[in-house]
Amino acid sequence: MEKITLVSHPLLEHSLTILRNKETGTVEFRRHASIISKILLVEATRQLEVVEERIETPLAAMAGRRLADEIVVVPVLRAGLAMLFAIQDFLPAASVGFIGLERDEQTAQAHEYYQKLPRLFTSHKVMVLDPMLATGGSLLETVAALQEKGASQITLVCIVAAPEGIARIQQHYPTVAIVTAAIDDHLDARKFIVPGLGDFGDRYFGT
Ligand code: PRP
Ligand code: URA
Repeated sequence: MEKITLVSHPLLEHSLTILRNKETGTVEFRRHASIISKILLVEATRQLEVVEERIETPLAAMAGRRLADEIVVVPVLRAGLAMLFAIQDFLPAASVGFIGLERDEQTAQAHEYYQKLPRLFTSHKVMVLDPMLATGGSLLETVAALQEKGASQITLVCIVAAPEGIARIQQHYPTVAIVTAAIDDHLDARKFIVPGLGDFGDRYFGT
């Protein structure tokens, strides 16, 4: 997989436009965040390994395929929970680890307030869910924590990414893959993504 994948799909563009619109209320925001997360997950898991499995349909024997990889999903609290809720049906057997990070409103520096990660192995395919990649501070911390636990195959699944954040991740962790629905223009003085969609967590959770 390319280390950055910009996913393009008419359904994604439609739902992203609804998320970006400041008039969109919580109910619609949640619905379209869920649609986008599902489409992104399909793309992010495109390279997963499958193994052959002999099965019988009601009519005949055939060779089916089953997922072979062990997958670990890591939502970055709090906004990443929105994506976890959306994709759980796709990966019901995946282990789930959590990392809680919050940006300081003045400095935009992320600080960790929670971590519960399973033991990780180099064979694990780790999918990190965080809708916004802005300065990259939160995801740099997340990748460092995952590597410390033993992960080496890490994919960051984001809804909107800023060029500044992408550059930082690629500079520090060139082997980490990024899958996103949008690469926006820049960060403003408060380190918000422009045009972006505002504060994802506040809009999704209605706070
Ligand atoms: C948001 C977002 C990312 C982070 C991105 O979280 O969900 O985790 O900011 O910014 P960065 O790339 O500059 O680190 P926030 O800190 O607002 O917390 P929340 O998820 O609890 O809303
Ligand atoms: N976090 C958000 O929710 N939005 C941004 O634009 C930047 C960080």
